[in-house]
Amino acid sequence: MIVYDAASRLFTLHTQNTTYQMKADEYGVLLHTYYGPRLSGGDLSYLIRGADRGFSPNPNETGHCRTYSLDTLPQEYSTCGVGDFRLPSLEPELTDGSHACDLRYTGFERWNGKYALEGLPAFFGGAQWQTLVIFLEDAAAHLRVELYYGVLEEHDLITRAVRILNRGKSSVRLRQAASVCLDFQRGDLEMMTFNGRHAMERCPSRAPLRPGVQGVGSIRGASSHQHNPFVILCEPACGEDYGLCWGAMLLYSGNFQAQAERSQFEDSRLVMGINPYHFCYTLSPGESFITPEAALICSPCGFGQMSRQYHRAIRTHLLRDPMAGTQKPVLVNNWEATYFDFDSEALVRLAQAAAPLGIGLFVMDDGWFGRRDSDSSSLGDWQVNSEKLPGGLEALVSRIKALGMKFGIWVEPEMVNEDSALYQAHPDWALKIPGRPCARGRSQLVLDFSRQDVREHIYGALHAILASADITYVKWDMNRSLSDVWSAALPPERQGEVYHRYVLGVYELLERFRRDFPHVLIEGCSGGGGRFDAGMLYYTPQIWCSDNTDAIDRLRIQYGTSFCYPPCTMGAHVSAVPNDQNGRVTPLETRGIAAMSGAFGYEMDLSQTTPQDRAVIQKQTADYRAYYSLIHQGDYYRLSDPFRDPLTAWAHVSQDKREALVSAVYGTVHAAPPFTALKLKGLDPAQHYQINGAGSWPGDALMQAGYPLPLPWGDYQAFQLHLCAIEE
Ligand code: GLA
Repeated sequence: MIVYDAASRLFTLHTQNTTYQMKADEYGVLLHTYYGPRLSGGDLSYLIRGADRGFSPNPNETGHCRTYSLDTLPQEYSTCGVGDFRLPSLEPELTDGSHACDLRYTGFERWNGKYALEGLPAFFGGAQWQTLVIFLEDAAAHLRVELYYGVLEEHDLITRAVRILNRGKSSVRLRQAASVCLDFQRGDLEMMTFNGRHAMERCPSRAPLRPGVQGVGSIRGASSHQHNPFVILCEPACGEDYGLCWGAMLLYSGNFQAQAERSQFEDSRLVMGINPYHFCYTLSPGESFITPEAALICSPCGFGQMSRQYHRAIRTHLLRDPMAGTQKPVLVNNWEATYFDFDSEALVRLAQAAAPLGIGLFVMDDGWFGRRDSDSSSLGDWQVNSEKLPGGLEALVSRIKALGMKFGIWVEPEMVNEDSALYQAHPDWALKIPGRPCARGRSQLVLDFSRQDVREHIYGALHAILASADITYVKWDMNRSLSDVWSAALPPERQGEVYHRYVLGVYELLERFRRDFPHVLIEGCSGGGGRFDAGMLYYTPQIWCSDNTDAIDRLRIQYGTSFCYPPCTMGAHVSAVPNDQNGRVTPLETRGIAAMSGAFGYEMDLSQTTPQDRAVIQKQTADYRAYYSLIHQGDYYRLSDPFRDPLTAWAHVSQDKREALVSAVYGTVHAAPPFTALKLKGLDPAQHYQINGAGSWPGDALMQAGYPLPLPWGDYQAFQLHLCAIEE
């Protein structure tokens, strides 16, 4: 609900559990007055006080009043160069060389429904949404700034985006244009970020804000394995099930920055958006720039509720899954089974072993095109290697389909090897700086996706592949960071646009494929989870969570990922042991339980399994099908912290709380272990539940006192409990 009070120019946004408020003051400065647990109403600007603060300037029109300063007031969208020295949100460079902007309120619009952002991913939906647009103006620069707010009451979601319009007669260069600024009149907050590296993504890290600026970001051209465009601010006492926290997520897959500043008077500011590194976007007169969308959720009841609200909002208003409403088949991918060394016969053998085990989708990974026998050649040459696949895709696909399986394929559209016909014909299509030898990553270069002609060529080549056979799934990979960023198609003064135009180009191509092949599920991937962000999820409703398929490492990766992204978005596969990434040996049952908590599949040579293993796998695929709606539509509860606790446990609970799937994985075992009672969450305290088909367990006891787990015997034992409410 959006409430506007004309007399005090006060905007109050209510969601089910939270309230967000801002106010245009007597000078037209848009002040942020409150974001927290839901309030009945009122004007929270009474909390804002002024004092004569040394070295904090006063705007010209306040005369000689020394108690009003942009440097100390909580701002809704911070400016620069005119007296606020904290983190700026917008930094324009004008033709006179000045870097300043001073935004004043001029009006607003609101309507039912959700705004859309041209060319960018955004939450969508109809009547459940309300939109508010607030207009601000910098009179000297002739810049109009439109602050967009989308309110999804049910899920406590507030989205934000900004459109900046040059209404002047000369061009303006945007040096920074953040998506969101959030001011707090308190400095005692902590920040949680999700960090890692290739094959170990999104490990949470939490620390109190210290005076000054701290943050995370990416200048790799993708959102990155190293830091995720999702951060949390919270009270020091906030935990999984209690305390106040604020999540901020950016729907963007390129360079981002999320910074928090604790400033001199113990207030805090969070600014999040496109990373200003090598960003300089020229707006000619009449042109506008739209920032990526940010999505905020405040939870008065800890991280768990915040995550569940993000999960629900993402599932219902961001994912566009062509297979929604059906059960997606369990897949088998040949990558770890064969790497580049395969032909049709080998693939069919793998599929023959998989089909009787309840696996319905066969995915052919890297190595099927050009002369791709290793990772040093052929990216860009998207023609089937007919030595490996005689008769082409059609022949292979019909053999796979004859086994009752669907067929999927791997592509890496954004990349090119120098050893390729494409690069030989168009060396200027790769990003590189003239006169400078460019860096290779995995022996490959990055195609200049800011260019229409490059995208058009790749579109044509991949369209032909997708149209040539019955393909229902595509794995869209991206296996290096961007370096040597320079486009042969743009003049020097526009090179600061390349990173962003690259991302827009990726989005445009994904959208075209979605439109032309609406039945095809595209799974995102970037060396695993190097581009696992909400922007990609709009186009690729599931993303390969990590190249690390070790079940125990995966518990941590999936735990961190779950703070923002729902389990159904996380590609998770069972692979062979010893694990190819870390050499660990874990029981097949444990690998199944860890992977089953996402978009489930296998990544191993199933023809090499024992009859006992095959029986286990058959049960796993049957269980996954039985629990599918719990995993894909249920609420997710973290029951322990794998970075701290000896046991990792989590639960998927149906919306009506009548059914739950609890999974628990022990770490390494020790002699004479203590007994563990696992406290469950999310159940109906008044219900009694059967567990794995037996007993009658009161919901309140299971949550308050716990369920006794069997003692572990051997490393990495795992258990699954299936709870069903007993009919009274
Ligand atoms: C990346 C992916 C893997 C696999 C390889 C193929 O590393 O993350 O799953 O597809 O590329 O080259």
